[in-house]
Amino acid sequence: MTASIAAPGATDGDRVLIFDTTLRDGEQSPGATMTHNEKLEIAELLDQMGVDIIEAGFPIASEGDFRAVSEIAERSQDAVICGLARANYADIDRCWEAVKKSRQPRIHTFIGTSPLHRAIPNLTMDEMAERIHDTVSHARNLCDNIQWSPMDATRTEWDYLARVVEIAIKAGATTINIPDTVGYTAPVESADLIRRLIAEVPGAEDVIFATHCHNDLGMATANALAAVAGGARQIECTINGLGERAGNTALEEVVMALKVRHDIMPWHTGVDTTKIMHISRRVATVSGFPVQFNKAVVGKNAFAHESGIHQDGVLKNVETFEIMRPEDVGLSSNALPLGKHSGRAALRDKLRQLGHDVGDNQLKDIFVRFKELADRKKEVYDDDIVALVSDTAEAAGAAHLNLVSLRVTCGTHGPAEATIEMEVAGKEEIATAQGDGPVDASFKAVRAVYPNKARLQLYQVSAVTEGTDAQATVTVRLGEDGVIATGQSADTDTVVASTRAYIAALNRLIVRRDKTGPGVDAREISYKDAG
Ligand code: KIV
Ligand code: ZN
Repeated sequence: MTASIAAPGATDGDRVLIFDTTLRDGEQSPGATMTHNEKLEIAELLDQMGVDIIEAGFPIASEGDFRAVSEIAERSQDAVICGLARANYADIDRCWEAVKKSRQPRIHTFIGTSPLHRAIPNLTMDEMAERIHDTVSHARNLCDNIQWSPMDATRTEWDYLARVVEIAIKAGATTINIPDTVGYTAPVESADLIRRLIAEVPGAEDVIFATHCHNDLGMATANALAAVAGGARQIECTINGLGERAGNTALEEVVMALKVRHDIMPWHTGVDTTKIMHISRRVATVSGFPVQFNKAVVGKNAFAHESGIHQDGVLKNVETFEIMRPEDVGLSSNALPLGKHSGRAALRDKLRQLGHDVGDNQLKDIFVRFKELADRKKEVYDDDIVALVSDTAEAAGAAHLNLVSLRVTCGTHGPAEATIEMEVAGKEEIATAQGDGPVDASFKAVRAVYPNKARLQLYQVSAVTEGTDAQATVTVRLGEDGVIATGQSADTDTVVASTRAYIAALNRLIVRRDKTGPGVDAREISYKDAG
């Protein structure tokens, strides 16, 4: 049995709506904070790729979240723009203020309904039911597209879940989302729960059922697809599976699974899958969460065939080991590297193929960096270009701290020594520091120029391509007074990339600190305060 499709945004009965929450649930992941412009860029890419609903943020959480949701709502073209709100009038009103300029606004309101979550606002079952009725009715009076979620639904008693879902529908909800908040359910249970809700809750045929899964046990994709088999017609997901703890259902996985296995899962989405790779790379860059090499669909090795047997088979017939074509997800299969003789036109062409339509000024900056790189590296691959674009975009911002030059000496004996020249708010400063290895010495030199209390939470290095002249991408995550920021940079010199990444993270910390004030973080508005 499937839900009848009478709610806003719905089409035919086999169409599965894709609800992307990279900018809300994904961004909630500690350290994944994106800047305002990055959020606008990701929202635009999501809209262009055919995502049906974009959850753009949690407007009451901070001024920054409100501004981002409002601007995304104003700029959106085809997608429904949704904001999150807890079950109280202030949250809902603020959310409406942010989304109302969208051509198609949606308010998503939620409350934790499982015994553990009910205990937090200390409401009885009856009091919570009344709260749900009042807040959903209030939201519906503002907007005719309302999504309601019983948080931790998969650990909520069946009778109570059915009762509150019915109340939310009667109060005007048009989409009922069933979250597996802690990644606890399993595919059979996920399908059964949706099937039973649709079969037994009065009014269920008038709404869309959605599934929202977390990946704590690695079952988020399987659980989401099982929920669709049970009758759900909206999948909530994020690019690269970004999200708190083990993350959310990955958009690219569910979309490609529905496409490749249409024979046994006869449902379809409106997503242009050729745009997957580009947005995956952009989300990895701006969130500072690199994609694991063997990640399904978008990992660096997802289409690589290293072993002799595999290569032989693929050369004879690609279908021997490949169930999808690289082009299906936007990877060009005949990617020719550029070299130092490649001109501006070739670079522009390559950038276009990789999904970057850059303006003349940006092209000029990227071209300078490209020439520097091509002098040091014989062949410049697609991944090098992608890293270069991100780095150039980062460097183009009016940053508080800028690296001017770095000289490091190190060897088998004695400490390493780094001399750094930096611009701090436009003024040049120089410092020298010693450390346990070249990276440590360089970071200490940065701290000598710009003293700070930020603690290093993550330092990660990965090679962009193969060979000893490969660029290294370095990710640095810093935390200071509850504010977390991530920086990334790529260079053929790992120490230079590390120092740039460190400075980029510091710049982001400075921006976040200025926006929120000391010690104030969006996440301090706890989801637990839903009551
Ligand atoms: O995981 C969850 O329960 C959520 C809700 C706010 C929908 O993200
Ligand atoms: Zn969630």
